Amino acid sequence: MNMKTITFTLNRKEQSFDIEPDETLIDLLRRTGHTGTKLGCDTGMCGSCAVIVDGRAINACILFAFQANGRTVETIEGVGDFDSPHPLQTAMADAGAVQCGFCTPGIVMTAKALLDEKPDASEEDFKLHLDGNLCRCTGYVKIKEALLSCSSATGGES
Ligand code: FES
Ligand code: FES
Repeated sequence: MNMKTITFTLNRKEQSFDIEPDETLIDLLRRTGHTGTKLGCDTGMCGSCAVIVDGRAINACILFAFQANGRTVETIEGVGDFDSPHPLQTAMADAGAVQCGFCTPGIVMTAKALLDEKPDASEEDFKLHLDGNLCRCTGYVKIKEALLSCSSATGGES
């Protein structure tokens, strides 16, 4: 197939990539080293591949890479790391909300998109926004505690 070149801002840095026309954004991200974004269902159903595109959480498995052209994309690598974690990552770890960890990057990205827009997000807001993020391990109670602790409504800081 004909390769195309696209350019977009990835984790605050403008970058160009050669892509296949039918390549998905998650395939592009993972082959370029952004493996914190996890491929679960590959059908837009589990949220493990969530990234933030122009401020909104989007499942990268159902977005073609060319659709990112000219846009701003944030992945978990741009949010925080072991040495400098984002408050959401710290809260997830502290609450024991991570077991296998496969769902965690998608949950953090989806929650971050919500808190960026609405720092005082309520429990109901989190429920609505994260209803597409599945976790097979935790039962969600600890995840809910962790996310809520980052809302300014509960004195948290995102
Ligand atoms: S891998 Fe994208 S939604 Fe499940
Ligand atoms: S911690 Fe394992 S799927 Fe959520």
